[in-house]
Amino acid sequence: MNSAFQKRIIGSTILKNAFIKTATFEGMYDNGIPNQKLIDHHVSMAKGKVALTTVSYGAVSPDARTFKTQMYIHPESLEKLKELADAVHNAGGKVSIQLTHCGYFSKNTDQKRPLAPSRVFNEYGCMSGIMFSKAMTSEDLRKVSDDFANAAMALKNIGFDAVELHMGHGYLLSQFLCPWTNKRKDEYGGTIENRARYPLQVFNNIKDKVGKDFPVLVKLNLSDGFKGGFTLDESVYVSQELEKAGCDALVLSGGFTSKTPFYLMRGGIPLKGMIQNGTSLAEKFTMALFGPFIIKKYKFEPNFFLEQAKVIRKAVKMPLVYLGGVDSAQGIEEVMKEGFDLIAIGRALIHDPDFLIKIEKGSITKSGCTRCNQCVVEMDRGGVRCVL
Ligand SMILES: Cc1cc2nc3c(=O)[nH]c(=O)nc-3n(C[C@H](O)[C@H](O)[C@H](O)COP(=O)(O)O)c2cc1C
Repeated sequence: MNSAFQKRIIGSTILKNAFIKTATFEGMYDNGIPNQKLIDHHVSMAKGKVALTTVSYGAVSPDARTFKTQMYIHPESLEKLKELADAVHNAGGKVSIQLTHCGYFSKNTDQKRPLAPSRVFNEYGCMSGIMFSKAMTSEDLRKVSDDFANAAMALKNIGFDAVELHMGHGYLLSQFLCPWTNKRKDEYGGTIENRARYPLQVFNNIKDKVGKDFPVLVKLNLSDGFKGGFTLDESVYVSQELEKAGCDALVLSGGFTSKTPFYLMRGGIPLKGMIQNGTSLAEKFTMALFGPFIIKKYKFEPNFFLEQAKVIRKAVKMPLVYLGGVDSAQGIEEVMKEGFDLIAIGRALIHDPDFLIKIEKGSITKSGCTRCNQCVVEMDRGGVRCVL
């Protein structure tokens, strides 16, 4: 396990150890502008020995937001993000941000026809009256790709150490990879080579803009977790293409927010809080009535993505970030033994930002997180936190 506390290099950036705080939506914004809580949250991670902390969901344009008051990358939010980057650096850590476009997962009522690879029913935002997506035209494809590249450059300019391109969890680039949402008949739909074309173009556009030395990580699904979705075999193909394209590190995850939201976390479903947080009466009612039937429960196991992630480990040489259920010294050891370069952690660090300090010292061997997943509900109640 000690090897995990030794330094790592991604791109031209030196990390003090193997640990990344993965993106977990913070909800620490005032009208979409990062607030002091967000800064303090990431500083606490840096002080807790996290080498690279990841700010979640940096929407690359106003249309990339899933809801109206979500943060997007523009001068006002960049001003606060610069403060955040400086504060994390002063605390001895490095900082990255997840660059995201929601695709059709939109409850943003400014946007009647959210963008997607194809025209599909918006099961995520239909309760907000946004029923169908618009299939992206070539002009949309160009504009969104430039939004990603410009956002990455803006973050580099204010001192961020890396960016993470979100290709997973059912957001726009994942909607391209997934045959269930990508019904295109042109060179962007059909075979996996075609479905991967746009996500890879976006990656290349970012790299061209920021230069090859600036680390660009990619968060990619191992699989979507449902029949008819993106598969592990397809993930092998995309990983190999990203390796050829010069991806600095691949963060492996899984799941599709509108269909298998707890596939990526496992454990409890905090249904009561989710109903209370519903944005409309209709949404609360639907969630109360159908929630227990439509939200599938997955049993939590430590290192729950390891078997799938090992398949990617065999297929590429590039730095791989293991993510999913790391919560103990033994879990860290196992991930290192399987040849992963970096380890991303979510809930164990929400539960206790000093988790890594205590694990290294040996004062604990395991996190006290119970995977009740109430932290998911707290995101929309003033900021993500552990309720224990
Ligand atoms: C409260 C909460 C919020 C999350 N928000 C995001 C997010 O904004 N973006 C993302 O890619 N993943 C998000 N995730 C998923 C985590 O990045 C991670 O994949 C998951 O928690 C499994 O890792 P863990 O077992 O170490 O917690 C979130 C998870 C939690 C618990």
